[in-house]
Amino acid sequence: MKELTPLFDLDAMEPVQRNSNGLTGQDVLSVAQFDREKLEYVFARAREMRAMVGKIGGTDLLKGHVLACLFYEPSTRTSSSFIAAMERLGGSVIPITSGVKFSSVSKGETLADTIRTLEQYSDAIVLRHPKIGSAQVAADYASVPVLNAGDGAGEHPTQALLDLFTIREELGRIDGLKVAMVGDLRYGRTVQSLTKLLLNYDVSLRFVSPEILRLPLTTMNQVIDAKKDVRETHDVADVIENADVLYVTRVQKERFSDLSQYEEVKDYYEITTELMEKAKEKMVVMHPLPRVGEIHYAVDSDPRAAYFRQVKNGMYIRMALLAAVLGKA
Ligand code: NCD
Repeated sequence: MKELTPLFDLDAMEPVQRNSNGLTGQDVLSVAQFDREKLEYVFARAREMRAMVGKIGGTDLLKGHVLACLFYEPSTRTSSSFIAAMERLGGSVIPITSGVKFSSVSKGETLADTIRTLEQYSDAIVLRHPKIGSAQVAADYASVPVLNAGDGAGEHPTQALLDLFTIREELGRIDGLKVAMVGDLRYGRTVQSLTKLLLNYDVSLRFVSPEILRLPLTTMNQVIDAKKDVRETHDVADVIENADVLYVTRVQKERFSDLSQYEEVKDYYEITTELMEKAKEKMVVMHPLPRVGEIHYAVDSDPRAAYFRQVKNGMYIRMALLAAVLGKA
């Protein structure tokens, strides 16, 4: 065969840089990886992403990069925002998000083998899985960064980052705030992650839940060790007047082994316009969504209802994270 003219001028190409953001090449498995400095870094990048999207919609920062999105549990916001984030940065996605039932998982393939397959095609993997610790298992097998998009009732670090970013952007600060978490504090992974992230700041915490859905002891012990001002109650009325942030969550039906218990607590809280009349003028109501009745539709037009702005922040935060782990930010 006669000698080929090279297709690529590899010498002229810049290799992936090892940036000093502490995230390049890293997994994002738990909020424990983030201190205030790293949080400020991600938030600053997310603001840049927001400004860029506002002005030109997208760039080619991650051109040529491929993200695998592997979801063993339903998702709307987390999967779509990771896809949108990758696309707006010029990268592309392998979307195994409409159910692993159409992938070889339904033939009995193990998580380890699925991960070892996807890493052959991609530069990073986003994983949502029903089992606590599964993101760590995936990371143990993968040589590319794994981003935990929810591991059962364990953690949901990227959600917590966007939640905290929303608090910061809506209220202008995090230190000094009183944050009330309402709903399923036992199975809600967003609650575990956000609570732990907030321990980096000078905050007061209020946990509002029915008895059977109280915050797990492991998380509560971390709050106590961090010497935060903390109180638990069953009643939203106890916290509504003083809360700067009301973080409402869905009762996680899929985690109950006894559905009659779910039926007992599923309608425990409803945030209504009447309740909102008691809240401060400057505060925010947040929800990771989906909601199934915890916040009345009538509350949506209240300027303090931040949950759809929170959704949008998810895309900017994930753009910032993807650029960082892939060594481009
Ligand atoms: C949450 C989740 O999946 O943990 N949703 C999300 O990612 N925005 C909350 C929930 O399902 O209730």
